[in-house]
Amino acid sequence: MLDKFERKIITITGIITMLFIFSILYAKTSRRIDLPECLPYNKIYEEPKVIKLDTNLYQVHAVAQMWQFQPAQIYIPVGSTVDFYLTSKDVVHGFNIFEKNVNMMAVYGGVNKTTVKFDEPGVYKITCHEYCGIGHHNMQAEVIVNNPSAK
Ligand code: CUA
Repeated sequence: MLDKFERKIITITGIITMLFIFSILYAKTSRRIDLPECLPYNKIYEEPKVIKLDTNLYQVHAVAQMWQFQPAQIYIPVGSTVDFYLTSKDVVHGFNIFEKNVNMMAVYGGVNKTTVKFDEPGVYKITCHEYCGIGHHNMQAEVIVNNPSAK
């Protein structure tokens, strides 16, 4: 037989869990925020790369290490969709693109992935937002989205 306080706690926990699941689904569907996913680890992600898959479709293998991101500059045309695959070669780093709601962690031995669409030309700063040592505040890279009509 459950105590009435136990029942209360179980109900409240249930409601909070539902709210949590609801907010994730809300972010994914309504706000169209791509949720980072964890992928099986593979050594190929340790090599920084920008791969063009198709017109306006890119794959970036981003590698964080004290105290830089590689590639440090990523050039893509306006309207591109980019799949970022992120890993670290040493400690835990952050990977934040403020204007795009991107907030990931770069973890040694792990790969995180997110997809971002760049509809507006400009320079988008990637910053490390996880304290990682003495050079943390200088750790950044940029996505340079150019406007082909400007050429
Ligand atoms: Cu890397 Cu802070």
